[in-house]
Amino acid sequence: MTHVPTHQQLPPGLVSLADHEQQARQHLDDNAWAYFAGGAADEITLRSNRSAWDALRLWPRVLRPLAGGHTRVQLLGRTLAHPVLLAPVAFQRLAHGDGELATAYAAAALGAGLVLSTQATLPLETIAQAVLNDAGRGPLWFQLYLQHDRGFTQELVQRAEAAGYEALVLTVDAPSSGARDRERRAGFRLPPGIAAVNLAQLPPPPRVALQPGQSALFDALLHQAPTWDDVVWLQSITRLPVLLKGVLHPADARQAAGLQVAGLVVSNHGGRTLDTAPATASALPRIVQAVEGRLPVLVDGGIRRGTDVLKAMALGASAVLVGRPVVWGLANAGAAGVAHVLRLLRDELEIAMALTGCATLADASPALLEGDF
Ligand code: FNR
Ligand code: LAC
Repeated sequence: MTHVPTHQQLPPGLVSLADHEQQARQHLDDNAWAYFAGGAADEITLRSNRSAWDALRLWPRVLRPLAGGHTRVQLLGRTLAHPVLLAPVAFQRLAHGDGELATAYAAAALGAGLVLSTQATLPLETIAQAVLNDAGRGPLWFQLYLQHDRGFTQELVQRAEAAGYEALVLTVDAPSSGARDRERRAGFRLPPGIAAVNLAQLPPPPRVALQPGQSALFDALLHQAPTWDDVVWLQSITRLPVLLKGVLHPADARQAAGLQVAGLVVSNHGGRTLDTAPATASALPRIVQAVEGRLPVLVDGGIRRGTDVLKAMALGASAVLVGRPVVWGLANAGAAGVAHVLRLLRDELEIAMALTGCATLADASPALLEGDF
């Protein structure tokens, strides 16, 4: 495989992220689709992420001056062109041969932040080198899963630092994956040649001889699962800001704020971990209230429209992330497809701002949703 992204034309007729989803289904086999599209168990949380954004109503405002409006926001000391980042999504070469490299080029071209998954299918250095010198790019962050071997984890963090990543996003909601019924029904397997290459040197987990009555989950897999102490440890071994991804409960948010983490991502892992967990749109305002502005709060899960982005900002988010739409864009047209997905979202966000009388995202407050009569 070459590391030069292929030139690919966008298929006709794609005017929304929903169009991208439909089209992507044609390009992906049942195995890949089960992995990318699926959620945990009955997929109740997966569906409610979407329906919760849909259920919020935006109040239009008229005749407000909009000249000079823009979508810029401040995040961790930087100005971003718009508040949309690409969420960490594993195994992107399963969607397109260019995988994470295409995603990175698209993110840079559209000024979107990029969060590279620990389970990327290309070396983290390759991705960073491709985009670091692009002056118009957004932030470049590395998503970290703490590995059972903390020495290896530390080396991974050092590699990310050396490569130029600007923050670590520690994912805390998936010490175990959810009950992935859809994947199991499809018999999901990674095809040969697609692997989490950045974990290639990870030593195998220690073999635990389970005693009768012991649990393979609690007594083996979760034995090394990260705890709050590991957050402190991670902060102590890195100079990079550490954000926590996968916080839904306000008490967890307060505890994280007490540890001075750099930010939170309100997320239920796109409905892939605990099924029947609340929709992120419901959790977001409670978390925003709990942390009282002490740190930025980002959100992901089911964001598919510019209006969804505006609703998240109105509820107090500092930025949003999109997961599956990246995969759809990739499957449809590689880098051009991901860039198109981002452009659609940004264009729709501008339209939504204009029609709600928001010249800037600082104007997006809960009043947009609740009214201020
Ligand atoms: C994910 N997500 C994820 N999160 C993470 O921290 N590390 C990872 O490697 C992955 N991998 C991954 C693979 C796939 C196929 C999906 C769909 C999701 C979760 C992801 O970052 C994000 O939280 C959700 O995808 C957001 O929801 P939407 O936008 O997909 O609805
Ligand atoms: C997933 C893991 C990789 O959701 O985070 O598939």
